[in-house]
Amino acid sequence: MASNRPIAVFDSGVGGISILRKLTELLPNENYIYFGDSKNAPYGSRSHDDIRRLTFESVDKLVSLSAKAVVIACNTATSVAIDGLREHYGDLPIIGVEPAIKPAVSQSGARVLVMATPATLSEERFAALMERYAQNSTVHLLPCHRLAHLIEQGHTDDDVVRSYLGEILAPYVGNVSSVVLGCTHYPFVQKSIKAILGDVEIFDGASGTAREVKRRLACLSLLNDSSTRGTLDILTSGDAEQFEELCRRLLEL
Ligand code: DGL
Repeated sequence: MASNRPIAVFDSGVGGISILRKLTELLPNENYIYFGDSKNAPYGSRSHDDIRRLTFESVDKLVSLSAKAVVIACNTATSVAIDGLREHYGDLPIIGVEPAIKPAVSQSGARVLVMATPATLSEERFAALMERYAQNSTVHLLPCHRLAHLIEQGHTDDDVVRSYLGEILAPYVGNVSSVVLGCTHYPFVQKSIKAILGDVEIFDGASGTAREVKRRLACLSLLNDSSTRGTLDILTSGDAEQFEELCRRLLEL
């Protein structure tokens, strides 16, 4: 049975917009609710228990708004909470995002840099991903303590971001061939990453996640059969006007 109920997309803040962009390209006639927990962002330096609690609270809210599926458009929240969420919500489709290690290491001779939040890199789920795909590969891990916060403040490819990235990426200049953006905020600064690291290939999980949402909804016959463009409601736990303005700017990037 086709459904016009909304697809909910959740992130700690504005990062999930990088996934929403791909979703609206692939499934333009769906209705979307985007929720960023910007009052509590960034999640990446918080404890496991904190991230789990905040993620459950946010998803509860989205379920109460009749979402037909929830996209955890946040690597940090996915690493910490996706198994628990799926167990808790039973039949509700919950789709997460993970660092795109597999495609990055599958290229011969790849020297890979994984950029992500400290929380994502310290979770068991990430260790399992590395063990499964990257045992015989050269992979450097870079916890980016301040990057999501800077992007939440509206800094994208500007001097503030370039100076921070210049500092943390300096050891890898000339030493890596690919970069995995293991946080949904980071695609918004990929121009600066490329400007610093030169000719590197960038991998992020956005397109894969969008395709997975489509596949899951199709399997459950839950795709919207409307022939007109769907709606988008942007919600936040923080300052609504400022948040919506930044989200709409990032959607256009
Ligand atoms: N966008 C998030 C991620 O993909 C979280 C960033 C943060 O809140 O620290 O990991």
